[in-house]
Amino acid sequence: MSTAEPRSAQSAKPSIPGALAEVTDLGVSNVSAIAEAVNPLIADAFALYVKTKNFHWHLSGPRFRDYHLLFDEQAGSILDSTDVLAERVRKIGGTTLRSIDHIHRLQRIPDDNEDNVPASEMIRRLLNDNRQIAERQRAAIELCDSRGDSPTGNILQDILDQTERRIWFLFELTQDDR
Ligand SMILES: [Fe+2]
Repeated sequence: MSTAEPRSAQSAKPSIPGALAEVTDLGVSNVSAIAEAVNPLIADAFALYVKTKNFHWHLSGPRFRDYHLLFDEQAGSILDSTDVLAERVRKIGGTTLRSIDHIHRLQRIPDDNEDNVPASEMIRRLLNDNRQIAERQRAAIELCDSRGDSPTGNILQDILDQTERRIWFLFELTQDDR
């Protein structure tokens, strides 16, 4: 018989072990709430990173060079955010992502396994995903501020600025020539 924990039990694991929760003066309930807001953002970032790289690799058409380079630049900024956020969760005494399976359980950005996505559709899908992420990052900033954790809120503000930069570039590509 397998000794692996069932999925539901893994999901129910607390995101702060008792011994770690005392790292700061934030308190257990605040650390828990912040970790539970930030960890799904990290999972979303990994999901969006892979999707952006997927489009970077599978792109085709007359805009190839522009979009190929843009997607690579955007993927880099998304990936950079993951380590900063994960270490911030650890810094306040929480636990963070451990595996691809853990990412899968927390991600809200859907994977994209479709063949032959047209370039304009890639832009539309990435724009939609980035907009959703921006909304959730903004909500997480408010939560961090309400829990007395302005450093995590400040980190998220910088990351939100990067998300809004990606949204700007993607949005402008959906506009017709004037
Ligand atoms: Fe590349």
